[in-house]
Amino acid sequence: MTYPYASAQAQPALAVTPPSGAARPRLTFLGTGYLGATYAICFAELGYEVLGVDVDEPKISKLQAGAVPFHEPGLDELLRRNIAAGRLRFTTDYREAAEFGDVHFICVGTPQRADGMGADLGYVESSVISLVPHLTRKALIVGKSTVPVGTAEWIEQLVSKHAPADLGIEVAWSPEFLQEGHALEDVLRPNRLILGVKSQWAHDMLMTAHKGVFDLAHNEDREVPVVVTDFATAELVKVAANAFLATKISFINAMAEVCDAAGADVTQLAKSIGYDARIGNKFLRAGIGFGGGCLPKDIRAFQARAQELGAGEALRFLHEVDLINQRSRGRVVQIASELLARPYGPAGPDFSGLHIAVLGATFKPNSDDVRDSPALAITRSLARHGAQISIFDPQGMENAKRELPDMTYAPSLNDAVTGADLVCVLTEWEEFRYADPNALGDLVAAKLVIDGRNCLDQALWTAAGWTVRGLGRPSA
Ligand code: UGA
Repeated sequence: MTYPYASAQAQPALAVTPPSGAARPRLTFLGTGYLGATYAICFAELGYEVLGVDVDEPKISKLQAGAVPFHEPGLDELLRRNIAAGRLRFTTDYREAAEFGDVHFICVGTPQRADGMGADLGYVESSVISLVPHLTRKALIVGKSTVPVGTAEWIEQLVSKHAPADLGIEVAWSPEFLQEGHALEDVLRPNRLILGVKSQWAHDMLMTAHKGVFDLAHNEDREVPVVVTDFATAELVKVAANAFLATKISFINAMAEVCDAAGADVTQLAKSIGYDARIGNKFLRAGIGFGGGCLPKDIRAFQARAQELGAGEALRFLHEVDLINQRSRGRVVQIASELLARPYGPAGPDFSGLHIAVLGATFKPNSDDVRDSPALAITRSLARHGAQISIFDPQGMENAKRELPDMTYAPSLNDAVTGADLVCVLTEWEEFRYADPNALGDLVAAKLVIDGRNCLDQALWTAAGWTVRGLGRPSA
């Protein structure tokens, strides 16, 4: 099939009148989790009238009251400011959303299916069929969630089945690339926009819905590259990008394994190869690997979908990427067994009677997200081998307690390490990176630290009398 509007360059947006008759398109964001809430708040900040929609009443009440239900630097302030300005509202009522919006962004979660590696599209389906029967005029439905290729076409079918006839509802796909902890910047100043469209109207409406992004870029003398393409490519861009990032991390973690075997230092290796602009120095931090709500499940869903399409062989390397990532998590337990002189038998080491301090619970710093967190997976494993754990995280304690209720949660970094036989740094929060090793040395039972993120200044820690073990680095 050819797409007349698919081209490497965006066409200049024609003046397109929003179906509601408003001066600028009115936007709804369906799903107010991490993605939808952040987009809703940021697009209100860009001057749009915005409605955030979710079936989760407590979440909506919280947002209405001006509180972001997760930790994202800077977002609370923008939420309150835009509610006060009257541009931003939240609702659980899809009828209200249909009445209000010109462009409806699907931002619901697509978790891994309980029965396999594929993505669960249940929330996508219910958001579409909750919305479209209530539509009374033309509208554009835009997918942002990370989905298996082919989903946009399927949504078109859902729309034609459930929407009132003759309204001319259209579908488009525009994936998002926001990183937790950096989300405001990523939404307000995206490094690219991908528009999967089938008509000039969808193209123009989507460009108009992003005019605030272009205006901000213009004021700051920046360009926002736009790629206009077909549905399948737009859907694939997202999963391909995440697959590449996951591969880059597993590549450097594989090098860390080789460095460990050869007595080399992966941090210097990464720095050295990163000077080559073709390789680049980003996403080459070796350690306990990637986690979170995106990369792990996205590479699995991508493999599952490729298999369904008959292209499974092409993505077999992603299985290896996943295995390397799992092995990286296992390294901390192996190193702990060496440092604590508890041999690694067939059932793993026996850490009973030992106190291990875990610093970090979230999957990365500046977030409270513990989904598929390497830090928590390792904590679970250390505890399973008999260690008495005390854990501290600057933002992730509440979520971690829900995941691992049986651990001891320390109120501070100092409390966590007091009396510890071993300290494990598993999330590179600044509070841990820049902690004073001399002061901490006075609190612990033994000055042994595993730097699971290779984020500590080894020279400083060894000067303070610590034995430091990183991943892929000679012991110091
Ligand atoms: C990721 C992508 O980076 C975003 O572009 C994408 O939009 C998002 O998923 C998504 O699909 O919504 P995010 O999950 O917020 O964003 O986290 P990343 O910053 O990618 O980090 C993922 C994991 O990789 C973390 O556990 C981090 O600690 C780990 N990581 C990252 C490394 O182990 N080494 C590195 O060099 C970089």
